[in-house]
Amino acid sequence: MQLDVSGLKSGYGKVQILHGVDFCIRPSEITTVLGPNGAGKSTLMKTISGHLPAMAGDIRYRGESLAGLGPLAVCKAGVGYVPQDANVFPDLSVYDNLLASSLAFEGAASRMAEVLQRFPILEERANQLASTLSGGERQTLAIGTALVAGLDILILDEPTAGLAPIFVDRIVSWVRELAEDGMGVVWVVEQNPEKILAISETAYVIDAGRNSETVAAKSLLEPGRLEEVLLQVHV
Ligand SMILES: Nc1ncnc2c1ncn2[C@@H]1O[C@H](COP(=O)(O)OP(=O)(O)OP(=O)(O)O)[C@@H](O)[C@H]1O
Ligand SMILES: [Mg+2]
Repeated sequence: MQLDVSGLKSGYGKVQILHGVDFCIRPSEITTVLGPNGAGKSTLMKTISGHLPAMAGDIRYRGESLAGLGPLAVCKAGVGYVPQDANVFPDLSVYDNLLASSLAFEGAASRMAEVLQRFPILEERANQLASTLSGGERQTLAIGTALVAGLDILILDEPTAGLAPIFVDRIVSWVRELAEDGMGVVWVVEQNPEKILAISETAYVIDAGRNSETVAAKSLLEPGRLEEVLLQVHV
């Protein structure tokens, strides 16, 4: 079932950041989101996932509106968000981070076992404090804790920013596997979007809180096309 965002407006306090954004997340597909710093990409993801209230517009999923629900209720509806920063509890062990996530969700015990199997590095580091993990390991843990919730839609906000290439490749291949297994994935991309565009269906360019372009992701791999699209935005 796809998730449909229409005319979404939101922001912080009285400051409006999103001015009517349309967006769609389809199962078994990876959707890429691009745009300059401060464009509102994270604000869009925080609003979809219930971390920020919508000021107007709607978020429809499985025949219901998610607008107005908080993050736990949105997660229970199957939609989870892994933020850019502060996405694990640094003072808890890897195992306890996963456990903390599992406490809120039915059937989480078996998913926790699956997550440890899917990400052997988490099994290896189970008793280590999250604060002592490398960037790539921490990001893996953040994705793992989201999966423990039993999601159908996983929203990743710049998950490979600043990571060693080996972790970039690992996360790209895990995400591809998740999509092959039916998950709808959103990937907000950072500096080098080519690897993600290559496995993605649709790319949204967000600029100044509005839709700038929505295109077939692979079309942005044609020479010069990505620069062309990004140059149109108000950097
Ligand atoms: N907690 C906050 N309180 C007030 N304003 C905020 C807050 N978070 C973000 N903003 C503002 O909202 C606007 C959009 O920020 P947002 O984080 O959504 O951009 P982004 O596209 O994710 O950028 P980046 O590529 O740097 O992650 C920016 O002007 C930012 O300063
Ligand atoms: Mg952001």
